[in-house]
Amino acid sequence: MQLLNLIRSRFTPVLSQWVTDPVALQTTLDRIVASREVALADYQANVAMPLQKVVGKPPMEIAQTILNEVKIDDLCSEVSIAGAGYVNLRLSNAYLAKQLDMAFQSENLGVEGAANPKTYVIDFSSPNVAKPMHVGHIRSTVIGDAISKVLKFLGHTVITDNHIGDWGTQFGMIIYGYKYFRNEEAFAKAQVAELGRLYRVVQRIIGYQSTVSGLAEQEKKLILAEQKVALLEAKQSEAASDKKIAKELKSAQNAVKEQSQAILKSKETIAAVESDTAFKKLCDEHCNLESRVLKETSKLHHGDKENLALWESFLPFCKEEIHGIYKRLNVQFDHEYGESFYHEMLPAVVEDLLSRSLAEPSEGAICVFLEGYEAPMIVQKQDGAFLYSTTDIATAMFREREFGPDASLYVVDHRQSEHFQKLFAVLEKIGLTHTHFKHVSFGTVMGNDGKPFKTRAGDNIGLESMLDEAIARAWEVVCDPERLKKARQELSEEDKREIANIVGIGAIKYADLCHNRTSDYVFDMDKMVALDGNTAAYIQYSYARTRSILQRAVGEGYVNADWGQQPILIDHVAERTLALQILRFEDTLAASMTEYLPNGVTEYLFDLARCFSSFFDQCSVLNAESLEQKQSRLKLTVLAGRILKQGLELLGIETVERM
Ligand code: ARG
Repeated sequence: MQLLNLIRSRFTPVLSQWVTDPVALQTTLDRIVASREVALADYQANVAMPLQKVVGKPPMEIAQTILNEVKIDDLCSEVSIAGAGYVNLRLSNAYLAKQLDMAFQSENLGVEGAANPKTYVIDFSSPNVAKPMHVGHIRSTVIGDAISKVLKFLGHTVITDNHIGDWGTQFGMIIYGYKYFRNEEAFAKAQVAELGRLYRVVQRIIGYQSTVSGLAEQEKKLILAEQKVALLEAKQSEAASDKKIAKELKSAQNAVKEQSQAILKSKETIAAVESDTAFKKLCDEHCNLESRVLKETSKLHHGDKENLALWESFLPFCKEEIHGIYKRLNVQFDHEYGESFYHEMLPAVVEDLLSRSLAEPSEGAICVFLEGYEAPMIVQKQDGAFLYSTTDIATAMFREREFGPDASLYVVDHRQSEHFQKLFAVLEKIGLTHTHFKHVSFGTVMGNDGKPFKTRAGDNIGLESMLDEAIARAWEVVCDPERLKKARQELSEEDKREIANIVGIGAIKYADLCHNRTSDYVFDMDKMVALDGNTAAYIQYSYARTRSILQRAVGEGYVNADWGQQPILIDHVAERTLALQILRFEDTLAASMTEYLPNGVTEYLFDLARCFSSFFDQCSVLNAESLEQKQSRLKLTVLAGRILKQGLELLGIETVERM
């Protein structure tokens, strides 16, 4: 049910006597919100003060007019004025009970869905295959999946597309690696692992070579920085009290320090490689590896038979690898076109941009110049190669033709925000103005050391082991003998395994979702799997509690043929608080999707679980006074449980019946 919309709609006739412009009216209506002070009100209309100028009367008088004219008695038991003209609303218990009953009877918990359903294309996960997937891709996967599910549940059409990088330089790397470094036997046995190894060998050689060639540049910079320090020191000895010089000197000295440290680090890297003589030999034999790799990539892009055949043979293995991760995370996509799908469209895209004078040649490349940006968006390089951006333009055009979306979301980490700003500007120039393009960006997952979190091996195997570890920790928490001693029923080994799996994977997902996606967060496995606090496990546990109460009620015979018809009674304040929270489900989902913030959903579920817990502490279900009260409280319990389960499901998190 859309409680907030309903309340706002009751205020519309009254407010539109003063505010006629629809946008201004909406802004005014948006000031009717759920109250933070539950003791004072359920909802509060903060409209009188901002209307003071428009109406030309004091806020108290405006509030009084609203109070006299608003027709809301069927929903509210109390409408009053507080402070300097706030209108406070208290919903009546009878109304709440009726709505709860409707939600209880309804299969989708009384969710009405969007009044104007839209079509969304959601581009998420999108790792570069043939290259280790990292934690950031898990975050994109989890956030994108949750957004897709919530939008779908609200009645929108959602098309999900995993825009995998299956055509980039990383293929040049494994093609080169395969040609020169492969271990035939290892490849025959475990293709994915061998391809991963080849990728890392090539990456390490390139890393070494670029460190060596960068060292000269670093040393040059150090000399310049030292000269600057000397100059400033001389200046300072002449004008000792000049603060500006002192400040400049300080920053120049810092630059020297930083540069020296960087050089030290490079030298260490070089020494480490050179102590490995076999590897050093490879580095010497394959000099300038980066440009050799680029050549392999370019040959692939130009249809070279051998490279194309290798690419075709590698791709299924690379996909198998990422699909293994998706299977464990239980995430599916409607499409997985990937970058290679657009390859043949790219020349026409550039042609089109040129013919419409949207792009122009510049220093041998083809560029789209954009107002407000110093650097243009390059769509074709001097050597004729197309870029990531070109593919993104082709992709947006294809999606437009194929799906005609109202909105197109890209769930990609924040480091690509400039790319997307420019891309959207180009798409607008091209004329894709019907679609609202949005970069749903997210922050970095940090380790305890304050640096970006890396799985132990820094590769896919590392990601798998991260999931394994979460499951192992969940096992420890769930199967803690002290805890199990108190349990009513014994859990079989199989139950325990299932619970640990669901709690462990849920923990990883929930940690990604419960932080505002735009901020960085620290990866803390202990906190993630805890049974209390804002965790998946706490909510999963609350759900399991509702199920066990139901089971006991069945055992005691309260769940008879017509228990569902028993009206819900709201007497206790804890019952009321829980009731109100239950009825805010749809409002919360809708609000969380205005800025695509799944943490709005986790916060709601956490609150709901806490409301349930305090209800359960204060209002005995099985020892209630009358059968009516037992059945009513049981209905509240079951309804709360269904919403907890549904809410978690929308976040891609599973539940268990017993924990
Ligand atoms: N493959 C890219 C990466 O791993 C992300 C792609 C995001 N989607 C897009 N349409 N650009 O960084």
